[in-house]
Amino acid sequence: MRGEVGKILIPSDRIADRVRELGRTLADTYAGREPVVVAIMKGCVLFLADLVRAWGEAARPEHPAMDLEFVSVCSYEGTEPGKVHITLPEGLEARVAGRPVLVLDDIFDTGRTLVAVCREVERLEAVELKTLVLLAKRRAATGEPPERKPDWVGFEIEDRFVIGYGLDYRGRWRNLPYIAALREGA
Ligand code: IMP
Ligand code: MG
Repeated sequence: MRGEVGKILIPSDRIADRVRELGRTLADTYAGREPVVVAIMKGCVLFLADLVRAWGEAARPEHPAMDLEFVSVCSYEGTEPGKVHITLPEGLEARVAGRPVLVLDDIFDTGRTLVAVCREVERLEAVELKTLVLLAKRRAATGEPPERKPDWVGFEIEDRFVIGYGLDYRGRWRNLPYIAALREGA
């Protein structure tokens, strides 16, 4: 299936307003502290760049310090269903130990990705672990509830596949400045 860009669900001005609010939340939460932001690649890159600037802006005249780390996640569907494989950067442990950590992702769907990354980060002796996602899908409650829910959510959305603002469908449309629905095509 190729798919097409469907209806715009969240226009760029609404994203910008919400990112500003989240920036204020981070400025308050981390005032006087130096957290490590652990960003899950690749979907959150646009959100990440806008969010950390909004945070810096909201904190003025303070100059908030933070560090940034990237983790990659792949799920091997089919061969090992449900297994999420995480690649952590070399030396992450030393940079995280004793510091607050904020794990950032684009979208919370089943929660498997966020749960798996948080488990890894918890092993690294972070002093406080919080999670923030741009989008969370409202899913029908089937099976076990996720072990962890995000501490902060940008937008709750219906349970459908979305693209844009970093989110892709088969590698495409990360560059759209808005969040749109994927329209299934031939
Ligand atoms: P989870 O592990 O089921 O919570 O899924 C989270 C990951 O699946 C996200 O980090 C995304 O990479 C991907 N994903 C889930 N839903 C969507 C979507 O609607 N559009 C694009 N990517 C998605
Ligand atoms: Mg992702």
